[in-house]
Amino acid sequence: MAYEAVASHNLLKTYGGSVEALRGVAISIQQGELFTLLGPNGAGKTTYLRIIATQLLPTKGDAEVLGYDVVEEAKQVRQHIAVVPQDAAAYGNYTPWDYAYYFAKLRGMPSADAKQAAKKALEDVELFGLRNRVCASLSGGEKKRAIIASALASKAEVLMLDEPTSGLDAVARRGVWSALRDMVREGKTILLTTHIMEEAEMVSDRLAIIHNGTVIADGSPDRVKQMAKEKFRVVVRGKINSLPAAHDVVKLGDKQIIYVSNEDEALELVRKVLKKGLNAEAAPITLEDVFVKLVGGWNS
Ligand SMILES: Nc1ncnc2c1ncn2[C@@H]1O[C@H](COP(=O)(O)OP(=O)(O)OP(=O)(O)O)[C@@H](O)[C@H]1O
Ligand SMILES: [Mg+2]
Repeated sequence: MAYEAVASHNLLKTYGGSVEALRGVAISIQQGELFTLLGPNGAGKTTYLRIIATQLLPTKGDAEVLGYDVVEEAKQVRQHIAVVPQDAAAYGNYTPWDYAYYFAKLRGMPSADAKQAAKKALEDVELFGLRNRVCASLSGGEKKRAIIASALASKAEVLMLDEPTSGLDAVARRGVWSALRDMVREGKTILLTTHIMEEAEMVSDRLAIIHNGTVIADGSPDRVKQMAKEKFRVVVRGKINSLPAAHDVVKLGDKQIIYVSNEDEALELVRKVLKKGLNAEAAPITLEDVFVKLVGGWNS
């Protein structure tokens, strides 16, 4: 039966006595769940992840990983986690193979198992062909993939990855998504942060939007999307003057996004706009729309 793999209660973090990075974050992640933290720059995602990863002390509140307290039992927590920090840099003299294989070995895996785990992880991030090149000679994205491979190869029970796919191309990103979902299928628990909304929608079982150090939305991607009362958007190229005041409109240069309640209203609006000789397209709202609405208001 699944159990609570990560729990935090009223977690507070103040840097230097004045910067309130976390203002009481309560998050619970079940074993076998991929949980994503979304939030604007400076929201507190890295701070949260680093506290859970025992790299940073909370100012107040407590958190447990697999039942171990992240402050009092940090050593035990570290035995069960693998972390990809936001600013992870691969050391130049090591190869991707070193990263994947030795991380697995460090976790006490027998050599044969570590080799197998390293091979699978490097294949997952499409780095197996480059496994023996020193990291100094790899591209930025390839270096990042070497670090991700080390976390995957570790087979840790809880993985914490802070924007692992930033700087990765779309193909590599999907390789990482697939590997993360494989880990979840094996019962691992994953805490992820990202700014890529498609990623959050594709890989998460559950996500939280964090803003100014507090959680402002929490649930499955679908449930969070339901939080906006507008369910459709119409993108119009050119200026239309005769919109009912009730519509929410976001201006993006020569384009406008008009948010409406439902599909009928969206199609009606498209017809009207097309009659005026302008271009218009209707689509259901995205997680990105909801995110922008929740953290900034879509008119700000
Ligand atoms: N070492 C530090 N000293 C002082 N303030 C800090 C420190 N680290 C982070 N902060 C501040 O704490 C807040 C949260 O930062 P954090 O790195 O957790 O944000 P984030 O959500 O990860 O942002 P990003 O999306 O840009 O990575 C920010 O206001 C940041 O400026
Ligand atoms: Mg961060």
